[in-house]
Amino acid sequence: MLVFAHRGASAIAPENTLLAISAAVQHNADGIEFDVYQHGNEFILIHDCWLHRTTDGRGNIYDFTLAELQAFNAGQGEKIPTLAQVLTRISGACQINIEMKGVQDAQAILSYVNQVVTEQHIPANNIIYSSFDHHLLKEIKSLQPDARIGALTANKPLTYAKFAEDLQAEYMNADVTFVDQAFVEDAHARGLKIGVYTVDQAQDLARLKSWGVDMVFSNHPANAKRIIKNLK
Ligand code: G3P
Ligand code: CA
Repeated sequence: MLVFAHRGASAIAPENTLLAISAAVQHNADGIEFDVYQHGNEFILIHDCWLHRTTDGRGNIYDFTLAELQAFNAGQGEKIPTLAQVLTRISGACQINIEMKGVQDAQAILSYVNQVVTEQHIPANNIIYSSFDHHLLKEIKSLQPDARIGALTANKPLTYAKFAEDLQAEYMNADVTFVDQAFVEDAHARGLKIGVYTVDQAQDLARLKSWGVDMVFSNHPANAKRIIKNLK
């Protein structure tokens, strides 16, 4: 069972910052997940479009220029990073799960990522595009058929993982609260991998591994990897 760092190694560094990304790389995470908003021609890492929870700013990200946003403290003196900075920092170290929270232009993010991937010699196949916005995922897949897709769900649909199969996703990523064995088996029967968020507790890790879950998102990847290694 693979471990992706959730918002970087967000248990030990401020979420969605370069510090959290670097910690996840250092801790040998199999992948790193982070949250992205489109801001003009740029893409930035932040989970909420409102600044108050994760920075010393107040208001909405769209009330500020990029330079103004990058003057805010995102924790421990960290700045809100750009997607290019983060891709460059991770480079080829592990898989890269870009969760699109506020992306309006599918072609723009594909062009942006493809350019950085080429310039920085990052393996293109390390990139996974994920979102709760399934319409956006459909557009990504139609614009770039070889894009790896992670279809997110915070619930357990009546048709289980059918939505992810319809999207030609590689991963269906589901909330730990609602995942059961039937959901896992349905995803696998459809040829999908299943990822589960957010998993930090040993009992959850053991249960999910026993069901054959392929990947978990953890705030503390080093801890999660150690626990998984000690499971039979
Ligand atoms: O990508 C999995 C997970 O990060 C989705 O939920 O709210 O933590 O972005 P959230
Ligand atoms: Ca996320």
